[in-house]
Amino acid sequence: MESPFKPEILKGKVALITGGASGIGFEISTQFGKHGASVALMGRRKQVLQSAVSVLQSLVIPAVGFEGDVRKQEDAARVVESTFKHFGRIDILVNAAAGNFLVSAEDLSSNGFRTVLDIDSVGTFTMCHEALKYLKKGGEGRSNSSSGGSIINISATLHYTASWYQIHVSAAKAAVDATTRNLALEWGTDYDIRVNGIAPGPISGTPGMSKLAPDEISSKARDYMPLYKLGEKWDIAMAALFLASDAGKFVNGDTMIVDGGLWLSRPRH
Ligand code: HXC
Repeated sequence: MESPFKPEILKGKVALITGGASGIGFEISTQFGKHGASVALMGRRKQVLQSAVSVLQSLVIPAVGFEGDVRKQEDAARVVESTFKHFGRIDILVNAAAGNFLVSAEDLSSNGFRTVLDIDSVGTFTMCHEALKYLKKGGEGRSNSSSGGSIINISATLHYTASWYQIHVSAAKAAVDATTRNLALEWGTDYDIRVNGIAPGPISGTPGMSKLAPDEISSKARDYMPLYKLGEKWDIAMAALFLASDAGKFVNGDTMIVDGGLWLSRPRH
């Protein structure tokens, strides 16, 4: 679908996107590139990164991929540095890397719980922390007159209520939302950095959907959930464009729900 935004809304900006080579992260990378940004993708799988970068370059988007795991502080620091060295500045950080699997609380080990918190929550904080000196007003690569950067944390709606077999992800995304609000307060005030989140509903064609909602489950869910509909990766990328661009310049500390209203739904009676 064609974008309703002007193609130059992110002109001259540099975005670093974790999990940027696949799923929702890749669509954000693509749309940011189509709207004028240069993009650096961070991911664990070399092949996946390489093919994502080739696709972006074929669209004439300045793109580079860096291997790294957001759980490792040294990887986070190296990828942030490399992005700055490659493009000369960093304006936008998108934390889209996430881990997930379905498991009952009874069967989940502490290490399984910790692993998802390490990726989603600690990984998000670590990336924000490492990128801070580049994102802040007057930081490296920025003039004192330029505004601060923008951070977007990809969250979920699972933890608004409770979700079967998702205790680890629910806890992890609750921590992500708290991180979004606290950084928005501290870094918005001190450095003019806007920190926001996006909470996607079920999005077709993502690793999350194929892992968490096999076809038979999603069709059953559609029957009893009045507002159940699948979103597209494009929907999330458009929300990210709004938040990252000047269109969202007064939005700080919000996590925008982009789920077609699903989290509100109750069975009809
Ligand atoms: C129970 C499991 C498990 C499973 C792993 N564990 N998979 N427990 N059921 N299916 C436990 C392991 O037993 C281990 O604990 C601990 O978790 C760490 O497992 P590892 O395999 O060593 O971890 P690792 O290789 O680092 O893999 C991380 C991962 C993996 C999260 C487990 O799935 C991954 O890397 N995924 C990344 C891609 C991904 O999931 N994308 C989808 C995101 S979707 P023990 O105790 O045995 O040592 C998404 C949507 C959220 O986020 C919102 C939905 C609406």
